[in-house]
Amino acid sequence: MDISGSNVLLTGATGGIGSALVGRLTAEGARLTVTGRREEALKAAADAWGARTVVADLAVRSDVVRLSESCSDADVLVANAALPASGDLLDYTEEQLDRALDVNLRAPMQLSRLLAAPMVARGRGHIVLVGSISGKAATKSTSLYNATKFGLRGFALALRQELRGTGVGVSLVQPGFVRDAGMFAATGADTPNGIRTVTPGQVADGVVRAVRGDRCEVNVAPLELRLLSAIAGQFPGFAERVQARADVDGSVRQIVDAQRSQR
Ligand SMILES: NC(=O)c1ccc[n+]([C@@H]2O[C@H](COP(=O)([O-])OP(=O)(O)OC[C@H]3O[C@@H](n4cnc5c(N)ncnc54)[C@H](OP(=O)(O)O)[C@@H]3O)[C@@H](O)[C@H]2O)c1
Repeated sequence: MDISGSNVLLTGATGGIGSALVGRLTAEGARLTVTGRREEALKAAADAWGARTVVADLAVRSDVVRLSESCSDADVLVANAALPASGDLLDYTEEQLDRALDVNLRAPMQLSRLLAAPMVARGRGHIVLVGSISGKAATKSTSLYNATKFGLRGFALALRQELRGTGVGVSLVQPGFVRDAGMFAATGADTPNGIRTVTPGQVADGVVRAVRGDRCEVNVAPLELRLLSAIAGQFPGFAERVQARADVDGSVRQIVDAQRSQR
């Protein structure tokens, strides 16, 4: 569908990929509502790009409902916000586990449910769920993140079928490691095994392509990562044995340590 002139709700607008999305969606002619927890950062985006802001914590259920009510005229939802949710499950408290599930999985599902209803009534709309290549391939010390992104993938692909014929499309955009800005770049770590990275701008392009072309799944990652994740998705036991032999513990530890404060 056409983004120009559409009302677009973007979650995670204050983050690395979110910032690129704000610029790209505005350039496409979207009437943007941006949301996140940090009011000052949101205000900066609003001032720079003329977006409307709604402060909301996606781990708070009443905030998610309030956000959807304030954007009931949204033609496009880009559910981009997430927590890194890295580290071993045994290092997580119950509260941290709930927050990861709420922000990464429950909030996008609930926003989709609440905003798809008016979209269906209008016979027009699009939902973009920003997942990750971690929704296709499991890796060490990412059990929670993998769980939310695998879950989001199943949700997106099934919801797309449920809404077929209503005029409302659903797309899943799955980035690989993103450089320059965002939750991975902020760790300062190298990618495991030197896997190549993509830019926030490429992810934003993927989102625009998904909406315009009603694409089912857009993987924004270099060829080697798309191939490895496809193999790992089909043959998880094989992928586990390959990963066990690879020397990735150093970079994994650096990523987990850097993201620990965001649980
Ligand atoms: N960066 C990567 O390498 C990479 C790779 C694959 C997939 N992804 C996916 O891309 C998306 C964006 O990631 P990013 O790298 O841009 O992350 P980021 O820079 O860490 O930004 C995360 C965003 O989520 C928002 N957020 C976090 N907790 C929230 C909460 N409780 N309530 C409301 N908003 C919340 C943050 O806003 P506030 O802090 O203002 O609340 C921020 O805008 C995520 O879905 C991520 O899983 C990223």
